[in-house]
Amino acid sequence: MATLLLLSGPNLNLLGDREPEIYGTTTLADLVASARSTAEQLGFDLEHVQSNAEGGLIDAIHNARHRCVAIVINPGAFTHYSYAIADALASFDGPIVELHLSNTHRREPWRHRSVITPVATGVIMGFGGDGYPIAVQVAVAKVLEATS
Ligand code: DQA
Repeated sequence: MATLLLLSGPNLNLLGDREPEIYGTTTLADLVASARSTAEQLGFDLEHVQSNAEGGLIDAIHNARHRCVAIVINPGAFTHYSYAIADALASFDGPIVELHLSNTHRREPWRHRSVITPVATGVIMGFGGDGYPIAVQVAVAKVLEATS
């Protein structure tokens, strides 16, 4: 079975407890379970890696090269300044879905810029936890489109 990689950046391990007025009360484990169930319904495996460190996310991206068919990534605050994560993603062959719980354009100006978007296939943002199954669906659609 082909494998999708779901990557969660810094502070997302605190979801459910962290700023619930912005990020909701759903835990990361619940979001991963909903993403995994969508992937499995579509015939794909889903691996999940969460790291609070830039290097941990970069290593997971390297490890996905030539092994996973697509990446769904919520890079957390690294979205806004990690050229190293953008470079690592640029080395990945398959579709890349950038995912955010909140609509970062409705928030502080420093969140309006993403250095990840230029290397992503597309972006899902602002739909809270509902974005997780949607991101998996569009990642799978892009994989199937590329192989048909
Ligand atoms: C986030 C948005 C980022 O600006 C923030 O630093 C996060 C979460 C989101 O999912 O809305 O940690 O990526």
